[in-house]
Amino acid sequence: MDAEKTAHGPFWTWLDQRVGLAEIQKLARKKEIPVHRHTVWYYLGGMTLFLFAVQVGTGILLLFYYRPSAEEAYESVQFLMAEVEFGWLIRSVHAWAANLMVFTLFVHLFSVLLLKAYRPPRELTWVSGVVLMGLAMGFGFTGYLLPWNELAYFATKVGTEITGAVPVMGRFLLRLLRGGDEVTGATLTRFYGIHVAVLPALTTLVVGLHLFLVQRHGMSTPLGVARAPRRVMPFVPNFLLRDIVGWLVALAILAVLAAFMPAELGKKADPFAAAPIGIKPEWYFMFMFQTLKYLPAHIAGIEGEILGIVGFGLGGLFLLLMPFLDRRAARGEPSPLFTAIGVVIIAYILLLTYLGYTASATK
Ligand code: HEM
Repeated sequence: MDAEKTAHGPFWTWLDQRVGLAEIQKLARKKEIPVHRHTVWYYLGGMTLFLFAVQVGTGILLLFYYRPSAEEAYESVQFLMAEVEFGWLIRSVHAWAANLMVFTLFVHLFSVLLLKAYRPPRELTWVSGVVLMGLAMGFGFTGYLLPWNELAYFATKVGTEITGAVPVMGRFLLRLLRGGDEVTGATLTRFYGIHVAVLPALTTLVVGLHLFLVQRHGMSTPLGVARAPRRVMPFVPNFLLRDIVGWLVALAILAVLAAFMPAELGKKADPFAAAPIGIKPEWYFMFMFQTLKYLPAHIAGIEGEILGIVGFGLGGLFLLLMPFLDRRAARGEPSPLFTAIGVVIIAYILLLTYLGYTASATK
């Protein structure tokens, strides 16, 4: 007891007796990161977590000024950008970090996929991850409408229209999302509630589960390097300090992006105005949007759009169930078919996103 007191000081000992610091310390010391040629991918989850924390912090600050009604939303954002000290910075960091977070999420997901880190016993880590991907996209979709500007208004109109084409439940989903038949102030209030309460609560829960599982199973070693002599690095402090360097670089990038390309506001939404040309969803929805554009009106008597939506639904389900379908990886054998599927999905997303921007730029 006395030895502990001198090693850590009386405050540490006091707190340890109350919250069990020594146990937490033991847990932190036990955590190790495998070192091999793919170690770099282990930074992506932590980077996503950091960007999520930035979103929560800047989001709370935005809440102090934002007003969630069709009459005041646009003006409150305008006031924030022009009058509130550093308001433009907070809003721009929130907008850029959202994009970066979705980007790091995509990279995290696909690196985990290609390294087959979803192998048993990490199936539920993967499943919780796919759910987080869906939640992140929900954040993007609902947040986009909140400034109540022209582009966001019409993008939401188109986006919710697509939901309306979902078989059987489409009409119900459309009305549920819009809070009526049209995109109105009711939609804004709904999206606001989802964006600032429902999604943060769900995401916090699922991130908690995800991190618990990561902690419980430790980091996986990819099959290809599992046979080599095992080298590890302690998580605290070696890997964590490297994580922090990454986070500081991310902060610097965010600051540069926000300063040189601050978030725009555009014109206030006018439901009676004609839709502006070149309505675009956010880049991470672009591959789906562009696919729906390319589909013919009817395929084998069924509406092309409906087939497309069902196709993406099934694709999402396939992704969710991947650890249970990839039986070879589950047995610890290489599974080139699933690697190929992963590569094809990445190539498809990149190509359709590229076409989404270049094709609409020429119109
Ligand atoms: C808000 C979203 C997410 C956060 C904050 C997050 C966070 C993390 C963290 C901190 C780790 C440990 C370090 C690492 O491997 O990078 C991790 C591991 C993991 N994540 Fe995520 N993640 C998220 C989304 C996802 C998604 C979308 C997937 C895939 C569908 C996924 C699947 C996994 C798996 C399977 C592991 C274990 C990797 C291994 O043991 O090698 N996560 N995640």
